[in-house]
This record gives sequence, C-alpha cells and structure tokens, in this order.
Amino acid sequence: MMMTLFLFLSLAPQEGAVATSEPYATVATSSIFAEGGNAVDAAVAASFALAVTYPAAGNLGGGGFFLYRTPQGEAHFLDFRETAPAASHPDLYLDASGKVNKSASRLGWRAVGIPGSVTGMAEAHRRWGRLPWKKVLAPAIWLAEDGYVLTKKSSQSLAWAAKYFAKDPMASSVFLDTHGTSWPAGHRLKQPELAATLRLIAEKGGDAFRRGPLVDGILKASRAGGGILTAEDFRDYRPEMRPVHHFHWQGLELLTLSPPSSGGVFLEQTLTSLVHPKLSILGPMAGWTVQCIGEATALAFQDRNRWLGDPDGFDFAWTDLVAEDYLNHRRKFLSGDRFTPTSAPLNHPFLESEETTHFSVMDPQGGAVSVTTTLNGAYGAKVMAPGGFLMNNEMDDFAAAPGTANQFGLVQGKYNAVVAGRRPLSSMSPVIVVKEGRVDAVLGSPGGPTILTTVMQVLLNRYLFTMNPKAAMAFPRFHRQDLPEVLHFEPGRLNDFSRAYLKRVGQPMKRRSSLGDVNAIFWWEGEWRAFTDPRHEGLGL
Ligand code: DON
Repeated sequence: MMMTLFLFLSLAPQEGAVATSEPYATVATSSIFAEGGNAVDAAVAASFALAVTYPAAGNLGGGGFFLYRTPQGEAHFLDFRETAPAASHPDLYLDASGKVNKSASRLGWRAVGIPGSVTGMAEAHRRWGRLPWKKVLAPAIWLAEDGYVLTKKSSQSLAWAAKYFAKDPMASSVFLDTHGTSWPAGHRLKQPELAATLRLIAEKGGDAFRRGPLVDGILKASRAGGGILTAEDFRDYRPEMRPVHHFHWQGLELLTLSPPSSGGVFLEQTLTSLVHPKLSILGPMAGWTVQCIGEATALAFQDRNRWLGDPDGFDFAWTDLVAEDYLNHRRKFLSGDRFTPTSAPLNHPFLESEETTHFSVMDPQGGAVSVTTTLNGAYGAKVMAPGGFLMNNEMDDFAAAPGTANQFGLVQGKYNAVVAGRRPLSSMSPVIVVKEGRVDAVLGSPGGPTILTTVMQVLLNRYLFTMNPKAAMAFPRFHRQDLPEVLHFEPGRLNDFSRAYLKRVGQPMKRRSSLGDVNAIFWWEGEWRAFTDPRHEGLGL
C-alpha cells in the first residue's frame, strides 16, 4: 500500500486530480488512479477514506449528493441523503406544550435519519465504477487499521466534541483515552472496529447497511438511546437518481442539483440576476456590489425556505422558481442601493461549524465527480454505532415546526415538514461547470446555508470578476440569508468604504472568522488542477 501511495505522489496532475479536506484521504484517493480507477472509483474511495480520517464529517452513518459527468458528457445526480424513519411524524420534535425540543433533533439517537452513504457509494460504484469494489475500499481499511496521525486542528476538533463523546461509551472508546481526554496532536488514531466494519462492507457491498450485524448493532443502540429506527427503515432505504439541473450562465453550462438540494434553484436564481453591468464595473470590493449580492441571496433564501423540500411532497412544479418570466420579474427589484428587510427581525443564533465535507475528482479521461457528504452537525448526533462509526443528526434539517429556526437559523415551510420516508431539504450544492464541452470546474463546500453563498461567490469570482482559480477560492466571503437579516463577513471582505456604505443603507453586519471549505478542480493553464481552500487543511493533488 505504501508503495502505491508513494508511486502516486509522483504522478502528474493531468493523470487525475483530487481535492479533499484531509491529506490522508487525498493521497488514498489518488492511489486509485494509479490502480487504473476512474473518477467514480476515486470518489468512492475518498468517501470511505474520509469516514476514517475526517470523522467530524466524513461518514458511513450520514448521507449526501453525488454529481457525475462522464467523459462522454452525460450528467447524473445520485441522491444518497438520509430519509426520515418510518415512525417519524410532524410533531416528532415537539414537547407536550407544542414547543420544539431543539436538542432532540440535534443530539442523540432521535436525531438520526436513515443513512445513505454506504448504499449510495455502492450504487455509484455499481453504475459507473471500473475497479473491483474491494480495491476501492482498500485504502480506507488500511487507514482504519494502521491509523492516521492527528494534526493540531483535528485534535482540537476532537477536544471540542469530547464532552459529547464522554456520554457515548462507543465514541469515548475511540476518541478519548482512559481518563476521558481526547487524543492530542501527533497521536496515531487506529480504529479497529471501523476497520472490521469496512471489511464487512468490502465483502457485502451496500447490503451491509440493509441487514445483518451492522444494522442489528445500530438498532440496538438506537433502542437503548430512545431512537425510533427500525429494521424496515434500513431494508427499504434506496439512493435515488434525480434530475441534474442544467442552466447556462456567462457562456458556461452549469450542472447543479434539483431538490431535495436547494443548490440548483438558488444558484440559477442568484447568478442569473447578478449579471448586472454595474457589478463588473464596480468590482467585488464595492459596498454596492456586496449589498446587491446580499439582496439577491436573501431573496433566493426566501424562496428556498418557503417552497423547497423533498420533491415527493411538492404540489407545484419547482422549475417555476427558475422560469424566465419569474427571474426577469425578480431582477427588476434587485439593487445595491438599499437594504430590504425580510420581515420583523428575528434573532436566530448561528451554531453551525464547518463540518460537512466536499471533495472534487477528475480522472484523466475527463470524468468528473463532485460530492458533498455530511453527518450534518460536527460528528452528527454525537452517537456511535457498535461498528465504530458516528451517526448523523440530519433530522434537524427538516422544519421541526413552522416559524422555528433550525441550527442554521433557517425558518422553513410546510414542504420541508418531518414526514416519514422523506428527505430533508439540503443546502449541499456540488457543481460541475462545463465550458465549450469540456469540464472547467468541479466544486462545492460545507457550511449549512453558507454552502450556497460560498459556492455562488467562487463562481462569481472566477467567471464574473474573472479572478484566477486561486484568488477565486481565497477571496474573503460573506453570507446573507433571509433570516436573520445580518450580513456575515470574513475579515478582509469589507473595507472602510464598503462598510460605511452598508451601514448607510441600513444593512446589519457581523464579522465571522471563516466561511466555507471549498475543494475544487479548475481547468487552468491547459490541465485540470486541484485547489483547496486556504482557510483549512485540505490537500489537492
Ligand atoms: O444538508 C444540509 O444543508 C446540511 N445538513 C449541511 C450541513 C453542513 O454543511 C454543516 N457544516 N457546516
């Protein structure tokens, strides 16, 4: 294995490119190209490797979205997002007085949706993979068995979660020492239970998550922890093929996702309204530009939160939200001259961390994969199954009650109510950009609702403000959703002039240390190059 890893490191980028948030996972993924794998094999390997080396977000017990463009140019969207267990109902997270019990949808077994990651990866591999399944699982098994060395940042992240792990015997046996302290930087973290689980998955494929010992272990822990998961939930879970949402912008073709992702609608609504000539003339630093973009994103969030959810629950055509007449109508109101309040200001706390993860892969033949995967919050529901993997708290992405904000401050509508078998609305937004028939960019980010504004800004930076890829990724970001009405900005995003301008038009503002963690591939100087976000510790090869 080591041989393969070293061998890969000497490969030229055009022999395949990969960008993930965690260097071991990137190297392991790259080894798949050296074995002759395609982008799908490499992406599946990345997903399993991240489940080992990036436990805050990489996962077996979560879900996500897989966007694939074949070398021949066909695009596919595989939705492996979690579903609400069959025993779910709209009042699941309400207490006796009808009030939302916030911790129930965020912490512990009741917060867990039926995971899709393992069956999803198995389905992607079955449809489009080239290498044998076991070969694709091999790097993750090796990393779990042999261990990986914690960095300062990953050990700090474990320390942050230690108080939660302490309540879960399985999680504490993996992430804490015998005194209950989380492992320090430099510790080699071996995960033998997880290695055994991965071996079983290598043996049984997606079925390992449909029935058998892994599912039995999950069900036992769920029952003991007050959860509502059943054997039928796992047996019946299916990843779904969904329409890719294509649209054209700035002479490019954008491949984005349809619901239950809000990415496609959001990106088409915002990007197409932001081709205002004044934006390119004033440039990205001007207060007017920031305000205009913020107005567009706040407006798009209103539609997202009101209308979107699992498409199975729609009684209207979601494509009406991107109909030409509708977009033209909205564009008329768009301006950087003013601040438009959404309604009476509500003070929703922002509690999220940056703990979802996105990875981008290109194979030498031109196949592109863009995957965002998550446990939702950092380390999900903070409970671990006996198989040594953490479970998601994706149920918090549903609207627990109308008018009540979830952990991201999102106040969402009836189309995203908790309904058995449905998938919660997501902001995850993997994207592939095609220029003159060739993939020009593959990108995505974590960040809850800030995923949408992060991905949009990297696209604006690259294609409207014509920054080079490195600058497009590094340029300081900001975020505005509908509620709260505050514009969050990274240091360096607003200068004194733009800040004074925003203040004058009445835009509430707040500093935020960091927004997003983009892992991208861009066509640059005649080849596909991997770019990771300077805000984090990712590696691109
Ligand atoms: O699907 C979603 O929109 C969320 N579960 C994503 C969560 C996320 O990005 C957490 N990281 N900040």
